[in-house]
Formats: sequence, structure tokens, C-alpha cells
Amino acid sequence: MEKEYKVKIFTGIRPTGDLTIANYLGAIKPIVDMAEERDINPLVFVADMHALTDSEPSVAKKFTHEVVADYLALGLDPERTTIFIQSAIAPQILTLMSYLSRHITVAELLRVPALKDKLKKNAREETANALLFLYPVLMAADILIQRPEYVPVGEDQESHLEVARLLAKRFNARYGDVFPPPKTYQMKSLRILSLKGKGKMSKSVPEGAIFLTDNIESAVQKIKKAVTSVEGKMTDGLLSNIIIAKELSKNENDKMRIDEIIAEHMSGKKVMGEFKKALANSVSGFLTDFQARREKIIRNPETIKSILKRGAEIAAKNADETMALVEKAMFSR
Ligand code: TYM
Repeated sequence: MEKEYKVKIFTGIRPTGDLTIANYLGAIKPIVDMAEERDINPLVFVADMHALTDSEPSVAKKFTHEVVADYLALGLDPERTTIFIQSAIAPQILTLMSYLSRHITVAELLRVPALKDKLKKNAREETANALLFLYPVLMAADILIQRPEYVPVGEDQESHLEVARLLAKRFNARYGDVFPPPKTYQMKSLRILSLKGKGKMSKSVPEGAIFLTDNIESAVQKIKKAVTSVEGKMTDGLLSNIIIAKELSKNENDKMRIDEIIAEHMSGKKVMGEFKKALANSVSGFLTDFQARREKIIRNPETIKSILKRGAEIAAKNADETMALVEKAMFSR
């Protein structure tokens, strides 16, 4: 049976620090592009309760409105996009989390790769704080309560999406169809690598990350120190930098120029200096535009507040509808 989706596209970001271009490329750009191409209204949120797994409440509070400003400055149109804060619907999400928790075992949770990634090197999974341990179920509750069709996330979050699908399936099998299975947006989720070439680009390794708040000079310096590859050879690091350069470039000519440089590189020419120039050009153009837009948005905290108020009402309506279905399925038999 084709299940009915309540929301076309949905994602969330934790307010734990300044965002990076990898957050944009992995999760937000797909939504901006889809909203434009298919004329749909996206739903996005700030995962402030998830932030508490490894950040202090004061940090989550500080960055919550910052993430909203980022969403808007990155191109989500407030006329069409619903934006809300996770804790605005905490009672509904936490109730669903506890119902879903019955359908996954401790052993299964310990195997979720993202949990391992979050722990310090060599730490045992059992040492995770209990909220971190429940992270995948909380995330499944965020997603399933909105009943979205697509959830664009970066590759590091794929295993969580898998848990959401698993829980949807198990719940439906037990109580009847309530949750349509959420789909990944891309065939393969993006994994933007650190500019240093090792590991993913992440807030926790700032030398290898380009933050949306970086000034142009420091972003260009980081690019100068980025790993490249010997002539004729393609590496994962170079591939990731090509994606950054092309996705952030503003026009088709720049994209074509990047393709030409890479073709020259593959034919054995020494052009990595040229490539870094093109990469720096894309990144600085993108950051300059973004920062100018954000500057204007942040000057209007009242606008952000009213966007969030409306967002909370819509998210709560969706959540209440889903919880009514959940409770009917579970308790009226
Ligand atoms: P968070 O806040 O760590 O990251 C936000 C988004 O950015 C993506 N991302 C990347 N994509 C590609 N390459 C990278 N190097 C890279 N680094 C980060 C992440 O995959 C993510 O999509 N658990 C989530 C927040 C969350 C959520 C949800 C998301 C909570 N509930 C429900 C979607 C739906 C997280 O920690 O994202």
C-alpha cells in the first residue's frame, strides 16, 4: 500500500556551534534545491534536545537562534518553510520516544555506528550517557512524528535514518499502518571530508573545516593548506573538494572551469594550484553572499521569534495528529 506522507521533506540540525559548509551541503542544500525545483514547503527544526547529549544547555540555548538565522540565510524562504525548535514539542516527542523504545533492544542500540563515532576513541559503548544511548530513538521520534517522505542528511546520520525506518516497520507490523517509512533523499548521502583529507569535515576539527562564520581570509588560508593529490590521481579528499568547489560556485562557467582543471589533472598536468584557486573562489563567493544575508536577518530577532512561533504551532499540530493515531493504534484494541 502506498502510504500517505504528511510532509514532503524534513531535516534537523543540532545547535552545538557554528555550522560548516558540510552541514549546508549534506542537509540544507538538498532542501533548498528541492523546494525550488518542485514547489514544495519544507519543514526543518533545531534539535536542541539532541544537543544536550554532549553539550551544556547554555551552549544549546546560545546557538538555537543562530541555527535559525543560518537556515534563512542559506536560502530557506520563510514564506514557504516551517521552522521550529524541537523542545517546543518535547512532550509529544518524548512520549513517542518511550513508545518506540519498546521495539528496539539494548544490543541493537549498541550497534548503531553513529553512537560509536560519538564516543571518545576506544571508549566502550556502555559508557555513553543514557541520553546519548537513546539518541537514535529520539531521532526516530523526531522524524516519525512528522511523517515525512524525504529526510536529507549527511552520510554520518544514515544509520540513524535506518533505525527510524526499522522502528516504523516494527510499529506498523505490531499495531497497523501508522508510520510511512522515511526515505533518504539522495541515492547516496554526502560525506564531505576534512580539508586535511582524513575523516569527515566536522565542527570538532576546526582546521579542516570551513565554518559559515569564517572570515574570507582564514577560509582561504585553510584551503591553501588543504590536501591535494599527485598528478593523474583521484583521491577521496580531492573528490570531496571538487564537490565543494562545484556545489558552492555561482555559475556554470566556474563549474565548467573546475571540470577542465580536473581533466587536466587526470591527464597528468600539474594544476592543483589552479584548482585551489578555483576552490577558494567558490568558497569566498559563497561565504560573502551568505554572511551579508545573515547580517540582515540577525538584526531582526522579532522576525525570528514570529517564524518560530508559527513553526511551533504547525509542528505541534502534526505531532498531535500523529500521536492521536499512535495512541488509537496502541490502546484501542
Ligand atoms: P548535525 O547537527 O550533527 O549535522 C547536521 C547535518 O549536517 C550533516 N553533516 C554532514 N554532511 C556531509 N558531510 C559532512 N562532513 C557532514 N557533517 C555533518 C549531518 O549528516 C546532518 O544531516 N542527529 C542530527 C540532528 C537530528 C536530525 C533529526 C536530523 C536530530 N533529529 C531528525 C534529521 C532528522 C545531527 O546530529 O546532525
